[in-house]
Amino acid sequence: MADSNSSPGSPGENPKSNPDANPPSENESSIETLARKVQESLSIEKKHKFWETQPVGQFKDLGDSSLPEGPIEPPTPLSEVKQEPYNLPNLYEWTTCDIDSDETCTEVYNLLTNNYVEDDENMFRFNYSKEFLRWALRPPGYFKSWHIGVRAKVSKKLVAFITGVPAKIRVCDEVVKMTEINFLCVHKKLRSKRLAPVMIKEVTRRVHLENIWQAAYTAGVVLPTPIATCQYWHRSLNPKKLIDVGFSRLGPRMTMSRTIKLYKLPEKTLTPGFRKMELHDVPAVTRLLRDYLSQFLVAPDFDEDDVEHWLLPTENVVDSYLVESPETHEITDFCSFYTLPSTILGNQNYSTLKAAYSYYNVSTKTPLLQLMNDALIVAKRKDYDVFNALDIMQNEPLLKELKFGPGDGQLHYYLYNYRIRHTLKPSELGLVLL
Ligand SMILES: CC(C)(COP(=O)(O)OP(=O)(O)OC[C@H]1O[C@@H](n2cnc3c(N)ncnc32)[C@H](O)[C@@H]1OP(=O)(O)O)[C@@H](O)C(=O)NCCC(=O)NCCS
Repeated sequence: MADSNSSPGSPGENPKSNPDANPPSENESSIETLARKVQESLSIEKKHKFWETQPVGQFKDLGDSSLPEGPIEPPTPLSEVKQEPYNLPNLYEWTTCDIDSDETCTEVYNLLTNNYVEDDENMFRFNYSKEFLRWALRPPGYFKSWHIGVRAKVSKKLVAFITGVPAKIRVCDEVVKMTEINFLCVHKKLRSKRLAPVMIKEVTRRVHLENIWQAAYTAGVVLPTPIATCQYWHRSLNPKKLIDVGFSRLGPRMTMSRTIKLYKLPEKTLTPGFRKMELHDVPAVTRLLRDYLSQFLVAPDFDEDDVEHWLLPTENVVDSYLVESPETHEITDFCSFYTLPSTILGNQNYSTLKAAYSYYNVSTKTPLLQLMNDALIVAKRKDYDVFNALDIMQNEPLLKELKFGPGDGQLHYYLYNYRIRHTLKPSELGLVLL
């Protein structure tokens, strides 16, 4: 029964460069084994030519506990940061993408819609909406200069993109100012020309100009060197459509009607006092979240402005609910998800898969299982086809019980210019990147 979800995962868990398809059983050793296998399978000239030059944990240093935790390289004086952009191949030029402009936002949207992350079998491609992009790229204190595009000089067509947004991220007991890097995308026709390293260097340079020296990012591919490797799980809300489009398969000895029954959810949420988050809840939610996230080794250090931006509901972008005690009116629990549809490639009947992604959840009084079940009920009512969650924070033990099935890809978390001595277990991570 549980394996009716076992076929292609959604985009973002792209295991293309991951030769080891089996999910890890024991986290640290599996990453080390993976890293060794990757190393061994590559001839010298095929190693990570770019990443080996960067201040990131290197595979050869895995398990070397004599190396200090923290920044790998110290900051340089700002006057020594390169003032001019890196050189691009002759036919291309840098552009700063003004995401406030409808025209530019549409160009970015089109580039990503046609060229961003696909699953291993090229059946689905992420389809971030324009409203989502505006939300993701304009948090408090964002820098326009970190929304970087590349255009063809003659046609002015946007052909590549990379972004950073500022974030305070706590690593163990230290709160570090970082940038979260996202939306790295090179047009399909320009792949394998080493454009990505130039883009990464350029965003790094612009981040340095703001006196920030660390970054956090995730990828489906293995690079030097993940701080954690996580897995996506999927909970069918509309099993018939998911099976029709090839997202999941009918389990052995299952019929469609039994499958539909298996995934059926109640019409109404079950927790008394469960309601949508509102602006006046920001202080209480911030307190709840800060307290809750303090138990994880890597987590965002959210203040009220961050919570207002990242968690106040925005239609079709982010949904947040909380539990207000009917007696005391205290806010005791919180759950949220963001909306990231995928284009269904080459299906006659359906063009879009509507997916909800579990975001931040906090339970103090309501069991997390019940809270997440209410989130599933809301998502179903809002016509999402699938609810996705990573095995991070306290999610893992609940996923099976809530009828999630494991996806077939992994998501690796990385830090730039910050060493953590030990690989983290997913349950030690309290950070969700979009
Ligand atoms: C990811 C993408 C921009 C890479 O561009 P490319 O043309 O395939 O690769 P390039 O020749 O420009 O650069 C290769 C270098 O980039 C690195 N690279 C590839 N994907 C990367 C990623 N997601 N994050 C960071 N570095 C990455 C490679 O490891 C390689 O460096 P190395 O030699 O040190 O290993 C491109 O494949 C793409 O747009 N894919 C679809 C969207 C996507 O997957 N985006 C990343 C989301 S995490």
